[in-house]
Amino acid sequence: SPHFAFHQGVLHAENVPLTTLAERFGTPLYVYSKKALHDAWGAYQQAATGRNVLVCYGMKANSNLAVLNEFRKLGSGFDIVSGGELARVLAIGGDAGKVVFSGVGKQEWEMRAALKAGVKCFNVESEPELERLAQVAQDMGKVAPVSLRVNPDVDAQTHPYISTGLKENKFGIAIEDAPGVYQRAKQYGSLDIVGVDCHIGSQITEVSPYLDALDKLLVLIKHLAGLGVNIRHLDLGGGIGIRYTDETPLTPKMLLDKVFEKLDAQGFGHLQIVLEPGRSLVGNAGVLLTRIEYLKHTDAKNFAIVDAAMNDLIRPTLYDAWHSVEQVVTPVGGQVQTYDIVGPICESGDWLARNRSLALAQGDVLAIMSAGAYAFTMASQYNTRPRAAEVMVDNDTVTVVRPREKLESLFEHEVVLD
Ligand code: LLP
Repeated sequence: SPHFAFHQGVLHAENVPLTTLAERFGTPLYVYSKKALHDAWGAYQQAATGRNVLVCYGMKANSNLAVLNEFRKLGSGFDIVSGGELARVLAIGGDAGKVVFSGVGKQEWEMRAALKAGVKCFNVESEPELERLAQVAQDMGKVAPVSLRVNPDVDAQTHPYISTGLKENKFGIAIEDAPGVYQRAKQYGSLDIVGVDCHIGSQITEVSPYLDALDKLLVLIKHLAGLGVNIRHLDLGGGIGIRYTDETPLTPKMLLDKVFEKLDAQGFGHLQIVLEPGRSLVGNAGVLLTRIEYLKHTDAKNFAIVDAAMNDLIRPTLYDAWHSVEQVVTPVGGQVQTYDIVGPICESGDWLARNRSLALAQGDVLAIMSAGAYAFTMASQYNTRPRAAEVMVDNDTVTVVRPREKLESLFEHEVVLD
């Protein structure tokens, strides 16, 4: 990303040297670039020019209020999956009318909160959920706007843990069952059918899985029209991948150009398109800074033991994910060796990167790249490690958007027995 680049041998976030940030705020530290967020948004906005598209940021990727607020200012809606995420949207003054509520396990209190706020749509994932929503809405004297999340049974060609559009996944309603469920939904006076929804997976790099899903959904929408069910928006979910190493993922424009082409060709030009991108809006807008505590050379391996760990970035452990590792200061000389970059947590799975050729020294600061998405939001306090601070860089200005957690706060609400 142009917003994380080397100048005179030092990696910068926009115009701030990462060395300065590591010294000022300590490590581990998440660093976000405001311009990178805006650029990523711009790619969607340009691709949508002149068309009826609502981008609902899939905020599970990074739900820091400062990040949400940038997207709010840019006009984004939000894809939420919990009452907690709704509370974050409301906390920044977000417009509930641009919120879609996804997730397979919505609880009653979450439905009530979303109805009270007035969300744009509930993406309903099962018949029992539909029944519960109808009941909750009726009790509140409200009408709930509904899409069914349909499982189009397409292979997103991504990691099995983050692929969600196949039959065997827990997500959505099988596409062949959808017409029947829509007809049931029609029967409830407290439900208003507004759309069709799908989300086929994450870190998708090809456009074809989306188009396969779209073809199937358009057949469904036509069929529904015949049943007197009129669909106003089509939500294609999130999933556009980012470059972690050498991927060249599809762009929003590559996707939307094809989508509009198909819609227009089939007489669906009036349909509003909703998207729920998470990773592609934030992933490459953040890095995780960490400092080398020790170098440890064993017969089998060389380890760089750093102060960040799987509790700060679980993606390598969980998905075998590959994140680039940059030395914040380009080394002059030094012996290049093959290192595993590991954390201090008491698990063999606690690694951030493996087999990297680097010339390292104790005390060096490393940047784990592409840590803007699914990094802080998946962080834990395992081993009683406070969650790291988050800062946002805007040109040459730095704001702490979440301070490092204090040790005492990790157990302040715990109680011992007499
Ligand atoms: N919409 C729904 C219904 C989703 O389940 C997700 C992500 C998104 C949108 C946003 O997808 P994105 O544009 O970010 O691909 N923790 C994993 C990724 C899990 C994605 C879960 N759902 C990772 O770190 O790779």
